[in-house]
Amino acid sequence: MTHFDTKIGADPATAAQWLLEGECVGMPTETVYGLAANALNPAAVVRIFEIKDRPAFDPLIVHVTGIAQAERYATEFPESLRRLAERFWPGPLTILVPKHDAIPDLVTSGLPRVALRAPAHPVAQALLRALHFPLAAPSANPFGYISPTRAQHVYDQLQGKIPYILDGGPCIVGVESTIVGYEDGQTVVYRLGGLALEKIEEVVGPVQVLLNQNSNPAAPGMLLAHYAPRKLLRAMADGRWPADENQSVRPQIGLLLFQDRENLPGHARKIVLSATGDLAEAAQNLFAALRMLDQAEDVEEIWAELSPETGLGRAINDRLRRAAVRE
Ligand code: TXA
Ligand code: MG
Repeated sequence: MTHFDTKIGADPATAAQWLLEGECVGMPTETVYGLAANALNPAAVVRIFEIKDRPAFDPLIVHVTGIAQAERYATEFPESLRRLAERFWPGPLTILVPKHDAIPDLVTSGLPRVALRAPAHPVAQALLRALHFPLAAPSANPFGYISPTRAQHVYDQLQGKIPYILDGGPCIVGVESTIVGYEDGQTVVYRLGGLALEKIEEVVGPVQVLLNQNSNPAAPGMLLAHYAPRKLLRAMADGRWPADENQSVRPQIGLLLFQDRENLPGHARKIVLSATGDLAEAAQNLFAALRMLDQAEDVEEIWAELSPETGLGRAINDRLRRAAVRE
């Protein structure tokens, strides 16, 4: 692989230039940072899979400026998905629509639908508007690891592999987009994310939630073991920490709390995601906190408290449960 002297900068024109040359760049979005390439250029898209060490069966989201551009890459636009896009784009919503031939099969891993999203981040919009092609972009982390929510996170892991990281500041949503499709006359949510389920149901009524709970590569979509720190992570509901059997061999604990609370087990470090118990703030801080505990030398195990199972709390808990899985 080519070795680059990776630069972090705030200039969409520089990022656009690299993309025009078929290279990949780090791109800010309101959810997490993406690793972007020209979605219409298979050679550029291949590089995304190489850089991330991502299996080819895991398809990529295609980023567009809005509905007008999205229509060019879909052969059909189910009514419920159109209503959602009209209401929530640009924003943390990805829709699965029947794919137009202009999108290479590599992007969708041979699947019949393409995932489309119009990001709300002004820098991402400026970049997309400067280009005549849409951008395929997965989260800019090595496959399976925690998604980046700062330009520095991208640099820490992809330094040398890409020429440029477009810095748009910390991501304000903090968890990936919600993925929605339409099957057999029903609106289906495939990934819980930055757009709360409740908001989707306000527009289209009750939806089916179909989260992939296995790690079978033959069933593309969400893989179960994902978003994982390198250290062992335990996820538990309010205050039910593992019993303290043997103090002397007990590992150094890094606590990840939704809100601060009393009667905590002994710990080396503690991070509170939101002092006021605000789910949006907790989501915004989640991945940076996980990274920090994963890197802290005095922490051996991460014990994470689950959030209330409502609104963005569902997406937070989904990420924590997947991070806790060990194969
Ligand atoms: O917020 C986000 O969605 C971020 C930012 C960068 O936009 N992107 C992101 O991409 O999270 P990624 O690749 O890390 O996750 C995309 C998920 C994958 O689990 C993939 O399997 C699913 O979307 N997906 C993408 N295209 C699909 C398709 N055609 N059919 C089914 N699932 C698809
Ligand atoms: Mg990802």
